[in-house]
Amino acid sequence: MFSTLPLLVGCATQDDLPSLDGRLRAIIQSAGLTGDPVRGRTLPTSDDPLPRLGMQLFFTKALSGNGDAACVSCHHPYLGGGDGLPMSIGIDADQPELLGPGRTHPEGPLVPRNAPTTFNAGLWDQVMFHDGRIESLGKTAGANGADGYGIRTPDRPWGYPDVLAGPNLVVAQARFPVTSEEEMRGFDFGNGQGNGSEVRNALTRDLLAQIVSGADPTRSARALNTWLSEFQRAFASDSDAATLITFENIAYAIGEYERSQVLVETPWKAYVEGDVTALSESAKRGALLFFQPPADGGAGCASCHSGDFFTDEQFHVLAIPQIGVGKDSGLSGDDDWGRALETHRDDDRYAFRTPTLLNVAVTGPYGHDGAYATLEGIVRHHLNPEAAVADYAFDQLDPSIRLTNARENTQNALAQWRRLRDLGRPTVAVLDLSDAQVADLLAFLAALTDPCVQDRACLAAWVPGDDIVDPDGMRLQATFSNPP
Ligand code: HEC
Ligand code: HEC
Repeated sequence: MFSTLPLLVGCATQDDLPSLDGRLRAIIQSAGLTGDPVRGRTLPTSDDPLPRLGMQLFFTKALSGNGDAACVSCHHPYLGGGDGLPMSIGIDADQPELLGPGRTHPEGPLVPRNAPTTFNAGLWDQVMFHDGRIESLGKTAGANGADGYGIRTPDRPWGYPDVLAGPNLVVAQARFPVTSEEEMRGFDFGNGQGNGSEVRNALTRDLLAQIVSGADPTRSARALNTWLSEFQRAFASDSDAATLITFENIAYAIGEYERSQVLVETPWKAYVEGDVTALSESAKRGALLFFQPPADGGAGCASCHSGDFFTDEQFHVLAIPQIGVGKDSGLSGDDDWGRALETHRDDDRYAFRTPTLLNVAVTGPYGHDGAYATLEGIVRHHLNPEAAVADYAFDQLDPSIRLTNARENTQNALAQWRRLRDLGRPTVAVLDLSDAQVADLLAFLAALTDPCVQDRACLAAWVPGDDIVDPDGMRLQATFSNPP
């Protein structure tokens, strides 16, 4: 009977339980977290010559068919690298220079999805876009797609590399916004004719127009420009415009600008690196919930939002309410089947890529279509998709957002969530967390914010000031209705 003694001695009382810090340390170690998602990567800095040129290109409306939208229309650093709207508005905005809340289009948003942040774009290794239609075929950790296996893009069939994709995922992505009618191309450019490469060539021709005789007089703003000297400086070359001003080089410079947007200095990183004072007690409790699986009393968030970048880059069905114009899916074409649009697999219907949670406090609205205005809303959706959908107030949305078959499409997404759950596929576990626990989770998510993203002086490194040449006079001069 004495043999039970050691057991009794070993049995922890409340005081002997590992502290919150101790438990988190054990989780950090077993998950292999370093806190630093940039470790082992080579990324440019904002004052390198190529990112500088990329910034000029990111801000010029000359890359849009109507001359009224730029990349920055939907990805402004002051708006968390996104646009602060549920779904984006590109060309033909009522006030093209007004970004963020208040930006409107006569027909409501025509882009079907929420603009993800460009911050930390250089940290994706597998896929870009909500449906992963830019995909690294090698998926090497730390490579951002630059691992020699090639990158698949929408210009190529599923599974095949696009030889024109460029060196990494971010550059490959930068080739596509200009070909989207709603985002940048416009509905009239080239009379709506022409494939992606024809559109890219036409836009490039406009940047070249300063030296090409017979430039289209209707594009005079673009015809008189000083892009050549900017390209020569950035590429450290005295080659001529035809050699330097190619769409490949445009995409490359834009990609390097985005890859220079490294914003990872979060309180969480400081904590993982050893500063136990970097997190509040509430954020520490939230971290525990975030990382522990439901079987251990946690919320299991890290099973999908895994690693130092807080994403597995995989696709999951959460049945976020389906709102907006949709993406050519379903009977009426106003549904969005997400990943299945690429893979054509039934199980991928309504599956979307797990987003990173770095800087998530400033990247709302949330979900692939921005259906949730608040972090609390999307977090609570995870805890019980059925209840969240039942409670979802479609009438809270801006009246300009199309809701034609939104309720029906959302029910179809929920049916898919139930079907996969019943098949035992990994999905969110239905959890009954207290309000205090939800508050702890939100405190943890807030600790994933790099203070720079809320500091205009710090963000100025990625916003062209008066000292940066505006080569065509077409730089978007952003205004905001709610000064962020
Ligand atoms: C009209 C608004 C709009 C414009 C203009 C626009 N984007 Fe986007 N961007 C979006 C939306 C919406 C998505 C998500 C689309 C999807 O996943 O289907 C996106 C996705 C992205 C992504 C993928 C991020 C990720 O996490 O996978 C990057 C990078 C990006 N855009 C960069 C650019 C660049 C570079 C330009 C200019 C060449 C540009 N965008 C122009 C709205 C816009
Ligand atoms: C089964 C995988 C999975 C689990 C588990 C999971 N998430 Fe998610 N999360 C996703 C996916 C996928 C999305 C995007 C869904 C969409 O857009 O349709 C998402 C979106 C989010 C967003 C919105 C981010 C944005 O930029 O729009 C937040 C915040 C979030 N999750 C937090 C959490 C928290 C907190 C937990 C734990 C309670 C959690 N997630 C558990 C897969 C998961």
